[in-house]
Amino acid sequence: MTEIDTSVPHSARIWNYWLGGKDNYPVDEAAGDAYTAVFPGIVTIARSSRAFLGRSIRYLVTEAGVRQFLDVGTGLPTVDNTHEVAQRLAPESKIVYVDNDPLVLAHARALLASTPQGVTAYEDLSLYEPDKILEAASRTLDLTRPTALILSGILGHVADHDQARDLVRRLLAGLPSGSYLSLNEGSRGTDPAYEHAQDTYNETGAVPYFLRPVDQIAAFFDGLDLVDPGIVSVPLWHPEPGDENARPIGQHGGLGRKP
Ligand SMILES: C[S@@+](CC[C@H](N)C(=O)[O-])C[C@H]1O[C@@H](n2cnc3c(N)ncnc32)[C@H](O)[C@@H]1O
Repeated sequence: MTEIDTSVPHSARIWNYWLGGKDNYPVDEAAGDAYTAVFPGIVTIARSSRAFLGRSIRYLVTEAGVRQFLDVGTGLPTVDNTHEVAQRLAPESKIVYVDNDPLVLAHARALLASTPQGVTAYEDLSLYEPDKILEAASRTLDLTRPTALILSGILGHVADHDQARDLVRRLLAGLPSGSYLSLNEGSRGTDPAYEHAQDTYNETGAVPYFLRPVDQIAAFFDGLDLVDPGIVSVPLWHPEPGDENARPIGQHGGLGRKP
């Protein structure tokens, strides 16, 4: 059983707090509130990132016919986890979750509540082990069939851009033609207040998360065919009716298809 330290704030639990989840403790609320006191927009960023993830999964199921998902950097369970969105639309969908945080592992049970027609699995592995991830995923997914790789808010934890690109490339190399990448990341160049707040947070000794310029986020899609409208601030990607005039925020992403 993993020992959970509730006396120190934890980044995944703070993210969960901003998302409105319940897997967090007073110490995380305090740290989350300290961040929002400096930059209240972080709550919108966290929720817009999750909402983009949900819309991209909906597109993958309904428009692209994808039924297999590999979600690396899953995070703590919250509302509308990947399998819930996919299996609501296509109950036979299969999902493999991957995270390396013991706390996420401790809560993984909520991620494993699959429909009877589908499958969900959780693999306690690191993004830095792409070959192991693919091998583990192949126990649940048929990796000769199109699969969507989901990287939502994880690559900011990899400081070096070339290394981050290489990890994406190696994961995609294990997936066949017709597979997709759904990726969204915190970005630099849209909101100086966000950049200042995040840079300050990174200096506190917390697990750092680095914002990237949009062209670096776009580079993760090299070699893929981008689904319209390409790489954009996430509220502007296939907005819900009524949300078309949403303001750009410092979170960019998109969807690309492996030719
Ligand atoms: C900001 S959260 C994003 C969670 C979720 N994907 C979302 O979009 O709401 C980042 C997640 O990446 C995970 N993560 C960070 N580094 C990782 C690594 N090297 N391998 C696997 N997971 C990692 C963290 O544990 C955390 O759950």
